[in-house]
Amino acid sequence: MGLRQVTVAYAPGKIILVGEHAVVYGRPAVAVPVTQVRAQATVGDAGKGQGITIVATDLGQRLLLRGEEGWPSEDPLATTVIATLKYVGLSLEQDLTITVKSDIPIARGLGSGAAVSTAMVRAVAAHFSRNLSPQEVSQLVYEAERLHHGTPSGIDNTVIAHERPVYFVQGQTPQTLAVGRTLRLLIGDTGEPSPTKAVVGAVRRQWRRSQGRYESIFDEIGEIALRVRRSLEEGDIAEMGRLMNENHQLLRELDLSSPLLDSLVTAARDGGALGAKLSGAGRGGNVIALVTEEVRPEVERALLSAGAERVIGTEVSPGREGSPSMEMSGKLARRDRRAV
Ligand code: MEV
Repeated sequence: MGLRQVTVAYAPGKIILVGEHAVVYGRPAVAVPVTQVRAQATVGDAGKGQGITIVATDLGQRLLLRGEEGWPSEDPLATTVIATLKYVGLSLEQDLTITVKSDIPIARGLGSGAAVSTAMVRAVAAHFSRNLSPQEVSQLVYEAERLHHGTPSGIDNTVIAHERPVYFVQGQTPQTLAVGRTLRLLIGDTGEPSPTKAVVGAVRRQWRRSQGRYESIFDEIGEIALRVRRSLEEGDIAEMGRLMNENHQLLRELDLSSPLLDSLVTAARDGGALGAKLSGAGRGGNVIALVTEEVRPEVERALLSAGAERVIGTEVSPGREGSPSMEMSGKLARRDRRAV
C-alpha cells in the first residue's frame, strides 16, 4: 500500500439575474453564483504509463488520454484538461485519474458545464501546486464553453470562476459587485431542458431577419441590467423585482418563454415574489423569483403547485468584497494524501 496525492476542488452553479441573450450582442448582464449546488473534480496520481483517465460519473462518460497524440479536440472535458496542463507549462504525458461529478441540473441555465470545467481547472492546477487567479480559470473554462455553446458570451465561466455577483459585458474586464442587502432567490426548475446552443442559434436567425427590432429590445434589456446593478448595490430589492418583471416581458417578446415558464413566473408573483422571470437561454430551464424571508415558503409552494419539478433556494449576502485577482484557486482546492 502506498500514498497517492489526491486533490479535490469544487465550483458552484450560476443564475442570470437579468440580461441573458442581450449579453451575446454586447449588452451588460448581471449574474450571481448559486452555492447550494456544485460540481466536484478529484485528481489522483495514477500508475506510471497509465495516461490520463477522465471519469464523468453523471454523464456515464470515461475517456482515456495517453501521450501527446490523438486527444479528442471536440470534447469539453478533455479540452479543459489539455488547456490547463498546457497553461501551467506541463506536458500532456501525465498519469492521472480525474473524476468529476455534479449535482447541478444539466441544461437548465445553471451553468453545469462551466461549473464542471471550473472544478477541473482548479483541481488540475492545484494538483501541481499552481495557483491560478479567477480570471485565468475563467479564460481556460471559456475554451470548453465554446464547445458546449458555440458562441457563448462568457458570462457563465466568469461568474462561476469568480464566485461573486458580476456585472458582465463581453470583451470587458468583468466587474464583481458588492450587494447592498441579502438577496433571496428561488429557482424553479421546469424539468424541461433549455439547450443553450440551439436557442442562441434560433435568436441569431431571428435577429438577422429583424435586426432593428431585436437591437432595440436588446438596448432595453441592457438598460435594465444597468439599473439592476444599481439597485443590487443599493439594496433596493423592490426596484430589482420590478426590473426582473420588465426583463421577463422583453424575453417573451423575443419568443424565449414557454407556457410552463410563464405559469411559474405568474405563480411566483401571485405568491408574493417581488419579481420573477425566466433565466438562462429560455424555452425551458428555470425561472428565478426574488423573495423576502416572509413570502419565501408561499412562493416555493406556488412554484411547485404550478408545475416546477424542484425549487432551489439561494442567497447572496453582502460583505464579500475585495480584489478577485488576489483570490487564488489553490485556496478553493484541497490536497490530500490517500492510501491506495
Ligand atoms: C446562457 O446562460 C445565457 C445566454 O445569454 C447565452 C450566453 O450568454 O452565452 C443565453
